[in-house]
Amino acid sequence: MTVKTTKKELLDVLDLKNKTTSKLGLVPTMGALHKGHFSLIDQAVKECDLVVVSIFINPTQFDNSSDLEKYPKNLHNDLEKLEEFQSELIVFAPSTSEIYNGSLQVNHYDFEGLDRKMEGAFRQGHFDGVGTVLSKFFTLIQPDRAYFGEKDYQQLLIVKKLIQILNLPIQIVGCPISREENGLARSSRNERLSPTQYHKATLLYKSLCKAKEEFGTKSVAEISKAITLDFEKDLEFNLDYFTIANSKTLEPATQLKNGEKYRAFIAAFLGDVRLIDNMALN
Ligand code: PAF
Repeated sequence: MTVKTTKKELLDVLDLKNKTTSKLGLVPTMGALHKGHFSLIDQAVKECDLVVVSIFINPTQFDNSSDLEKYPKNLHNDLEKLEEFQSELIVFAPSTSEIYNGSLQVNHYDFEGLDRKMEGAFRQGHFDGVGTVLSKFFTLIQPDRAYFGEKDYQQLLIVKKLIQILNLPIQIVGCPISREENGLARSSRNERLSPTQYHKATLLYKSLCKAKEEFGTKSVAEISKAITLDFEKDLEFNLDYFTIANSKTLEPATQLKNGEKYRAFIAAFLGDVRLIDNMALN
């Protein structure tokens, strides 16, 4: 494993590895690595000749400074875990100033409304922040493929749109959600849950399973109402949204159309930890 912290060092090592003749993969992360990230890296390693894993907590995608402060950070631990990979990885772990040059300037993108729903509605400017940092990484590293988890399904659609906007020849690969034994979607934020909260947090997964079971037999409104009530029963939860939406446009499903794919999306605070999850319904 090679660890680089500056853009220059990273480009030097990529040149040395003669990236022009091989397939380069990028797995962008914000660290606090877990099995979900490892499944992305595994897939990247299978499909590419060389893989860059970036570890960078991007300040411009946080709408709330306390969320940014509390975001788990442990580079030393992350590097130890990455050492265990058999294949050679290049880790890019830059500082904020290396990426933003002292000014946290954010680009604004026209994501054609994909960014205004769900996460975008609850986290102002979040997707412009994600777009800004990824456009920097994509132009610097120029990967052939970049890997993203379906847990952040809305982000995945927005990254695909970003590639069209920037007109970059990068294939965006979506990877299945990695779950704990109890169904909880793996996330760096899970580290902040107490053992009791960790157990309770399965309500998100159970709600999605219930929605999947009832989809097509009950109306979207009935499903949504029952799930909202389940969350209201436990005061430690604060449901931001439960939405059934079209998988391509993310438009909330009011009337179901034949041949269209739908997904259920959920976001809730459990104490002060914000959790999100989603599931394909048909
Ligand atoms: O999904 C994440 O961890 C982040 O949004 C990403 C894609 C690394 C951009 O900072």
